[in-house]
Amino acid sequence: STILFVSCSAKTYPVDHEQLSEDERIVIRFSHVVGEDTPKGLASRRFAELVEERTDGYVEVQVFPNSFLYKDGEELDALLDGDVQMIAPATSKVSSIVPEWQVMDLPFAFDSELEAKEYISSPAGEVLKKKLEQKGMYYLSYWDNGFKQMTNKHHSLQDPKDFKDVTFRIMESELLEEQFKLLGANSQVETFDQVFSVLEKGHVQAQENTFSNIVNKNIHSVQDYMTVSNHGYLGYLVIMNADFWEDLPDEVQMIILDVLEEVTEWQAELAKQVNQDKYKTLVDCNCMKIHQLSETEKKQWEEALNPLYDTYIERFGAEYIEYIPKLKQ
Ligand code: LMR
Repeated sequence: STILFVSCSAKTYPVDHEQLSEDERIVIRFSHVVGEDTPKGLASRRFAELVEERTDGYVEVQVFPNSFLYKDGEELDALLDGDVQMIAPATSKVSSIVPEWQVMDLPFAFDSELEAKEYISSPAGEVLKKKLEQKGMYYLSYWDNGFKQMTNKHHSLQDPKDFKDVTFRIMESELLEEQFKLLGANSQVETFDQVFSVLEKGHVQAQENTFSNIVNKNIHSVQDYMTVSNHGYLGYLVIMNADFWEDLPDEVQMIILDVLEEVTEWQAELAKQVNQDKYKTLVDCNCMKIHQLSETEKKQWEEALNPLYDTYIERFGAEYIEYIPKLKQ
């Protein structure tokens, strides 16, 4: 049936939405892999609430956290198949479909959240968003988590040689695999829901993640050492199934974009706060020895990892790299 929209001050929303059946309302299923008390978990909840409120219940956003519906990788297929309409995977994971997104995995590429965001809105970032669209994924926004830290079971990771022969859990990204190879380490791709289990069973000894994700998966209970290295950035691409997006009424698209702008801004501050709080949790638990990477050590890591920039250029071209703030002429 036809849904009527009326304008009321600046807003538009359908008439008599309460009379609408499930079939007549718009339902957006939003699947993600982290817990509720995380930057992504909190932002997706807020997004759902605001969209429902501003469309007067005409659009319902159902959020499924914690890999409840789909794990990493699976959620990308589910989006493309239309089984869910919205996801917010880490850029690294999207690189299984658009490998150029590995640019975000380059070690020490960004000194702040803002720099990562600047890259996303640079001309190179725009090309990367278009590439998503060509694959059927409509880019809506970019959400923050924060900087990744290294954790390990048996010893502290300070000098590059400390990585030798240690096996790390990684997200699916060739560049991350090569990062650990350059350090003489091994890596194993595991989905986020498996991180705790593979560490606990000793299938891998180490991993890299943000304070928020470490606490979310209780990683600190199965790791004894953490190095605060801030070596890589973890951010999310908020994307929708492109056909689904195109079929949405213009008014609904506008409301979604407005809400996302608001949530994204709110989320950036929140992500910083959550990561600070979780860092404190990790300090207070007295369960891991925490080492702050020194400037000298950072230089050694950078030197060891620098070849990744050339690898990236050889594979995908320099045009994506040159918009990384510190490499801009
Ligand atoms: C991970 O798999 O470590 C993260 O990408 C999880 C997430 O979505 O933050």
